[in-house]
Amino acid sequence: MTSFPSDESVALASPAALRALIESRRSVRRFTAEAVPDEVIRDCLGMAVLAPNSCNLQPWSFQVIRDEALRQRLVPVCMGQNAAKAPLLIAVLARPDTWREACDKVLEYWPQEKIPEITRKFYSGTAQFQYNQGPFGLLGLFKRQLVRIVGLRRALMRKPNSRADMRIWAVKSTALAAENLMLAFQSHGYATCPMEGFDEVRLRKVLDLPRQAIPIMILAVGRQGEKGVYNSRLRFPLEQHVTWL
Ligand SMILES: Cc1cc2nc3c(=O)[nH]c(=O)nc-3n(C[C@H](O)[C@H](O)[C@H](O)COP(=O)(O)O)c2cc1C
Repeated sequence: MTSFPSDESVALASPAALRALIESRRSVRRFTAEAVPDEVIRDCLGMAVLAPNSCNLQPWSFQVIRDEALRQRLVPVCMGQNAAKAPLLIAVLARPDTWREACDKVLEYWPQEKIPEITRKFYSGTAQFQYNQGPFGLLGLFKRQLVRIVGLRRALMRKPNSRADMRIWAVKSTALAAENLMLAFQSHGYATCPMEGFDEVRLRKVLDLPRQAIPIMILAVGRQGEKGVYNSRLRFPLEQHVTWL
């Protein structure tokens, strides 16, 4: 199990420091050839998996692609994008298929000696029903009908009750981990570019991805190269996206 520093030993970053880190991250498409040390990669992945995630089932996995020959095979898979020529690529995978094993792992790795009964019940009982969609998604179909009826009388969680819901479920948590990962590299002085511009069929073949894994992005990582950032930053006015109630 990964161990993390206790809360007391960590000085909290000031809002200004966090803002500076977030503002300094840009999508970089040109990198130098300098390799990213394994210790840095490991540290950043350690920060990635600290992301909040649904029921702590950590539905993600990462393929760290350092091998040059393999990276070269991925350039055409990423349609020749400059970012894909980075010295490090990380395939960020959402895993709607690992929840059952994760339920066992949560109980196995529980950080206190005594597992609260409510926790044990959730991971060994409730979760087994909540995330299971059954063969051909039939249990999901049944659950969709059930929540329609029960939902008439009381508020309840209506998803995930299909395989498609499970995919969204896993992608949400994994995207949060991906952002942590980018910021972690940024804090080490390495630039990143998330890429969804790839041929998924070819990617699955080249990386031999598990059938149910969803490659949500390939992260290019490296030291920023010349003209690595293509444009000045552009964001819409905040008011356009925010409703204050
Ligand atoms: C899910 C996702 C997929 C992306 N795919 C690509 C991509 O395939 N190629 C690329 O050059 N940039 C890609 N980007 C980067 C965006 O273009 C970039 O984040 C956006 O233009 C804002 O710029 P900034 O990251 O520098 O703030 C992607 C970003 C995200 C979040």
